[in-house]
Amino acid sequence: MTTASLDWSEDAFFEAPEAKPLDGGTTSRGHLWHTAPQRWGHSMHTMCSYHGMFPAKLAHYFIQRYTRPGDVVLDPFSGRGTVALQTRAEGRRSISNDLSPLAYILTHAKAKAPEYKIVLEHLGQIEKRYRQFKAQPVTVSPDIEMLYHPTTLRQLVFLREELHRKPFTQWTAAETVIAGSLAGIMHGSFRRDGTSQYLSISMPNTFSMSPSYVEKFIREKGLVKPPQDVFERLREKLARVYLDAVDGPEGQVFHEDAAQLMLSDSIQARSVDLVVTSPPYLQVVNYGTANWIRLWLLGVEEVGRERGAGRRNLDKTLDHRHTYDSYREFMTRTIQGIERVLKPNGVAAIVIGDVANPGKEAIQLASKIWADVSSETTLRLVETIDDFIDIDKKVSRIWKDTKGQATACDSVLVLTHAKGKPWDGPEDIDWDEPYKDGGPDAAHQRVSAGRHRHQ
Ligand SMILES: C[S@@+](CC[C@H](N)C(=O)[O-])C[C@H]1O[C@@H](n2cnc3c(N)ncnc32)[C@H](O)[C@@H]1O
Repeated sequence: MTTASLDWSEDAFFEAPEAKPLDGGTTSRGHLWHTAPQRWGHSMHTMCSYHGMFPAKLAHYFIQRYTRPGDVVLDPFSGRGTVALQTRAEGRRSISNDLSPLAYILTHAKAKAPEYKIVLEHLGQIEKRYRQFKAQPVTVSPDIEMLYHPTTLRQLVFLREELHRKPFTQWTAAETVIAGSLAGIMHGSFRRDGTSQYLSISMPNTFSMSPSYVEKFIREKGLVKPPQDVFERLREKLARVYLDAVDGPEGQVFHEDAAQLMLSDSIQARSVDLVVTSPPYLQVVNYGTANWIRLWLLGVEEVGRERGAGRRNLDKTLDHRHTYDSYREFMTRTIQGIERVLKPNGVAAIVIGDVANPGKEAIQLASKIWADVSSETTLRLVETIDDFIDIDKKVSRIWKDTKGQATACDSVLVLTHAKGKPWDGPEDIDWDEPYKDGGPDAAHQRVSAGRHRHQ
């Protein structure tokens, strides 16, 4: 295998290590989540990277501060399921929702992950069928074909067809864990020794670059398709994902428009103790295009350049607020939905980033939205927490000036009902992780065996 791919923007991970605490210092409670180590959080968070994800420690901060075990925590824009997993791991009950198929599957996997051995058994059955039936050569879009060795592709297509016997909203918990973990290894960089935990040619893991860009890179750098055994790589991935114990209550997961869900009877009025969420910002991420390879796996068929309508439609559905007015309308409905579901003393923490305004000062979207929406809701602002982020560590940096519109400050609007008196938890947030390393021995053994192989 070649390591030529090191020229990709391979450090473009959203959660790159933070050199120093970067507290905005405007919280009423001292330090924010930056004092916790970078990799803080449950092992299952690493299932699959996701554009726009926030760190698990942000979810932990609000869960600890505003809830007690057994309370209900809602994330209506759940992305990779950060809040769902951290809520479960901390013994609270989660309700989650996302309109993207990828986000729905990742969230479902984490909210309902069954025991490790159940997932392995299910994968074993699929593998047995694959070995028995000797899959035939497959025909897929050239944009997918250019990424995978023919044997790897045959296995991938087989697994994909097995999963798609049912619509993804009917997949079992074991199936969503398999699909989500497979999505996580669909593409990524080779190790320095030329081996890889990923299935594709060596390329970034966080997001999918455009097909034409990838094709050019393969040609110019002579990138080689690694003959990866999908079942083997997937078992390794599952072992890493299961290193920590998952034994909290299973959460509920929806796949709907967030505002519609919160304004409908699917969630009981005044039933939620805490909302922690990050809605799409104004035109920052194209959730369809940025995930086209993973979306192919999950059944959004139109991945070929000539057939890009599928992912463009998804972009539009997931972040089509191309004008501030339509974004404000979207956020008004969202905040009214939150008002409906929040308990009388409940709290909502809504994370919204600033948006760059080429040639002008960045738009402070959170305060602008609150100024415009506050008259349409009876919720009141408890505080705004400004979380300053080192711009060099944000994934959007790699788009340089052309596309990177997320800037250096994420703000958190902390809201409650007009007469709400939120329970405000411990003085100091406890950063202990009781679930750490509590996963099955079999997962630990497999991971340490793998480490020895790569030393
Ligand atoms: C900023 S991301 C959330 C990331 C999440 N906090 C995490 O840690 O992964 C915003 C999410 O909103 C979803 N989304 C966009 N429009 C939506 C809508 N109308 N209803 C539900 N989800 C939507 C997108 O698919 C995306 O996953």
